[in-house]
Amino acid sequence: MNEEKPKYGWYVKNLILAFSIIGIFGLIVFIIGLNLLGMLGITLSIIGIVLMALFLWPGIGLAAMNIIIDKEDSEVQGMDILSKIQSPSVLDIGCGTGRTAIKIAKSLPKEGHLNGIDIYNVNAISGNSLATVNRNTELEGVNDKTTFQYGSATEIPFEDNKFHIVNLSSVLHEVHNYEDKERAMKEIHRVLKPKGFIFIGEWNRYSWQLILYSGILCIVFQRRKYWNDLIRKQGFTILKYENFGGYGLFIIQK
Ligand SMILES: C[S@@+](CC[C@H](N)C(=O)[O-])C[C@H]1O[C@@H](n2cnc3c(N)ncnc32)[C@H](O)[C@@H]1O
Repeated sequence: MNEEKPKYGWYVKNLILAFSIIGIFGLIVFIIGLNLLGMLGITLSIIGIVLMALFLWPGIGLAAMNIIIDKEDSEVQGMDILSKIQSPSVLDIGCGTGRTAIKIAKSLPKEGHLNGIDIYNVNAISGNSLATVNRNTELEGVNDKTTFQYGSATEIPFEDNKFHIVNLSSVLHEVHNYEDKERAMKEIHRVLKPKGFIFIGEWNRYSWQLILYSGILCIVFQRRKYWNDLIRKQGFTILKYENFGGYGLFIIQK
């Protein structure tokens, strides 16, 4: 009998498929161009190269990233503060299918608890839903330490000063505009206990690893300075920034 495994889903699966299809079309145009003589051949070859660079590269790169990411723990490296707080209460914003939330929950002491909220955008991760994250926590044996519900970063459904730690792994870049990002930071400030900690994990636009994975799509992500400014604007202190292969973890205190 096959044992059921947790399903964390693929990040941006539909985008990867769409980019790969256009990229393969570019490859075909390139091959046709190579087989034609004159200006038409040169033009088609150039169009093919451009389409491959813009689409096939991120298509293949992001697919590879999804495979690599499941084998690494980059999201939770550097979070050693977790073990230093007694009975930590943690909020994971944008928990998705629980890929990071469950790793955090596993590293919590027995009395610790993790709440997760998400708006469950299905384009962000395949199979993204409350049902998926709940099933994954059961399969990973952390359902007694976790509670998940629908909720947005810009309107966090919890009372003031509730959490010791708030975590956002690869989420803030998805919060639409700058005003909403500021609103989210204000909400985090509200629900954090005095001197509480925040972990913000974001890919760094100019890291060679992100460029390797996503090619032109790296523009979706921001530079480290953008996050520095957003965080400091709310009066938070950045204690540390750690780079895990292009994925930057800001360790912040209220
Ligand atoms: C790239 S996924 C990361 C998921 C998870 N943190 C992880 O480490 O696998 C981004 C997640 O953020 C969620 N999200 C986007 N905007 C949000 C918002 N305003 N409030 C809460 N969650 C949001 C998406 O639905 C998605 O599940």
